[in-house]
Amino acid sequence: MIIAIDGPAASGKGTLAKRIAAHFGLHHLDTGLLYRAVARDVQRLGAALDDAERAAAAARALDPAELDDPDLRKPGAGEAASIVARIPQVRAALLEFQRSFARRPPGAVLDGRDIGTAVCPDADVKIYVTATPEVRAERRFLEMQGRGEAATYEGVLADIRRRDQRDASRDTAPMRSADDAFLLDTSNLDIEAAFDTAVGVILRKAGQRGRA
Ligand code: C5P
Repeated sequence: MIIAIDGPAASGKGTLAKRIAAHFGLHHLDTGLLYRAVARDVQRLGAALDDAERAAAAARALDPAELDDPDLRKPGAGEAASIVARIPQVRAALLEFQRSFARRPPGAVLDGRDIGTAVCPDADVKIYVTATPEVRAERRFLEMQGRGEAATYEGVLADIRRRDQRDASRDTAPMRSADDAFLLDTSNLDIEAAFDTAVGVILRKAGQRGRA
């Protein structure tokens, strides 16, 4: 069973993916961490984030066992990730790891931007999680405040809009919902309601597969 969960920044897809994986006993991969780690490594080399050659080399050298670095969650890391994520050679270098992760028994939940469209187009279930930019900014702002990080709502909203634009407009594997994805708009849903809806979608799909 492969479950693809895509969506824009701060849509809640990460929390949802983690809970779904735990609920169904599946592996979970937050694919955004791969791009965040490539950006970190490029910056450590002192290279520019849009240096395609250095970024692709960093992606090829990435050790996916080392994705628990807290720096990857810092403000600015997502923005930096979206710059290296535009480079086709970076995406190509990360593709096989994601696909082989997805094939690990008994199955996996992968969350990102292009899982249902490019990484696992044959996923058993695809969910595209979204919410208005204002709702996502509010959630992210409250999270940051809770962690004592300096932020303003307007600044967070501007970051979210910029990242949406960059992720949706790139040429290779842009962020978009797969045609066969279930659209889960969490603008007016809390995490419990979003989780219940997603579980319902997955059980329905699994039932259909069982009957096929
Ligand atoms: O999901 P997260 O915010 O951690 O992703 C950081 C950035 O990595 C995204 O803004 C996007 O540019 C890139 N990304 C991607 N494809 C994925 C996952 C993340 O391009 N599957």
